[in-house]
Amino acid sequence: MSPDPAATTALADYYQQQATAKPASMDAFWMPFTANKQFKAAPRLLASASGMHYRDVDGREILDACAGLWCVNAGHARPRIVEAVKRQIETLDFAPNFSMSSPLPFVLAQRLAELSPGDLNHVFFTNSGSESVDSALKIALAYHRARGDGQRTRLIGREKAYHGVGFGGISVGGLPNNRKWFGPLLPGTDHLRHTLDIQRNAFSQGLPAHGLELAEDLERLVALHDASTIAAVIIEPISGSAGVILPPDGYLQRIRQICDKHGILLIFDEVITGFGRVGKAFAAQRVGVTPDIITAAKGLSNGCVPMGAVLVSERIHQAFAQGADNAIDLFHGYTYSGHPLACAAALATLDTYAEENLFEKAIELGDYWQQAIHSLKGLPNVIDIRNYGLIGAIEFAPRDGAPGTRGFDVFNDAFHKGGMLTRVTGDVIALSPPLIIEKTHIDQIFERLADIIRGVA
Ligand SMILES: Cc1ncc(COP(=O)(O)O)c(C=O)c1O
Repeated sequence: MSPDPAATTALADYYQQQATAKPASMDAFWMPFTANKQFKAAPRLLASASGMHYRDVDGREILDACAGLWCVNAGHARPRIVEAVKRQIETLDFAPNFSMSSPLPFVLAQRLAELSPGDLNHVFFTNSGSESVDSALKIALAYHRARGDGQRTRLIGREKAYHGVGFGGISVGGLPNNRKWFGPLLPGTDHLRHTLDIQRNAFSQGLPAHGLELAEDLERLVALHDASTIAAVIIEPISGSAGVILPPDGYLQRIRQICDKHGILLIFDEVITGFGRVGKAFAAQRVGVTPDIITAAKGLSNGCVPMGAVLVSERIHQAFAQGADNAIDLFHGYTYSGHPLACAAALATLDTYAEENLFEKAIELGDYWQQAIHSLKGLPNVIDIRNYGLIGAIEFAPRDGAPGTRGFDVFNDAFHKGGMLTRVTGDVIALSPPLIIEKTHIDQIFERLADIIRGVA
């Protein structure tokens, strides 16, 4: 029976009306990583988006200085992506990928292999950064076992690292609040020290000069545990969620050397740094260090349909390909790995990046961005400013006895008074705008922030 078109339109109007108005009750939605009581008392509700801007439920225009949550790298509601997703849902809404498939995951994997550094030519699909991280850690363990080196089970992360919220990710992660509630976590992990050093590196422009020696922490952990027990090291080339922490110049190169020396796999968690955020497809290419595995998500599908991916090297993939033709390579996967809608969104996203040269934008605009953000130096309570590519962070001195409140006030005023979406972590405001940003938007972001920082003081 074909549906009545008038009734279908009326229903679509009804759903859209619900999606753009303040909800009647806000009780049932338990919001992630949010002070629910505080939020529900004074909500910040986004209703629509286009290009560089959102509109909130009151119709106010909000400049997106964060690409949503580090994910809408091509800007909002880009026509190619919208059309590709619409067309795909009408054509094939779902297809399983366990011993079945559909064409798009193959097409997309091939495209990603072409974009990736070195020989990271094989792609495992997930639905989020957290799933990409847990998948990568499992692949690293299984790789060693497949080669008869199964005693390599230790996973090394870093203090202050954020690798999502799966048990693997929080075990190698280094944010105490994300770990302490959840029991003993994975056994057999250890952590390098983080590289944030405001005393020596405050207001560095680009990669900081001090701290290369921190890479030697890995040698210290090898001496402690013995290399033969260590499977992998996972590192965000630039960590975003902990408030933008940059690697000292040469640090990632040195970590790579130590991993090579000891047969340890190197995983770059590029969930934030992937897809043009620092001027290349991946930060690996910008810094000239090729890891063995890359985890990705966010900008892969421009945030509009959830998707993640794990890119692995030829050597790793080969280790799983030794069995009989009818043997399953990897006992791991998700119902939605390679979902057709996500693949359609991702392919149209990659085409948008290429057509508009968006990966290069972070290099082209890098100096302008750097100068603009560092113009905030000297404003009240600003104790550090960090930047790389189209990423920035402003750190404030914490208020006595009330850490995090100054950062939150700047974030909240930026939204309500400045009409701008930023990201707050403790007393750090992080910025990562869509890559379609123009110089005029950069001026607006930092003029408005300067006013707000003076006001919050
Ligand atoms: C480096 C890194 N890894 C993993 C994740 C988790 O991604 P998701 O929230 O999609 O699970 C994030 C999220 O910000 C991230 O920054």
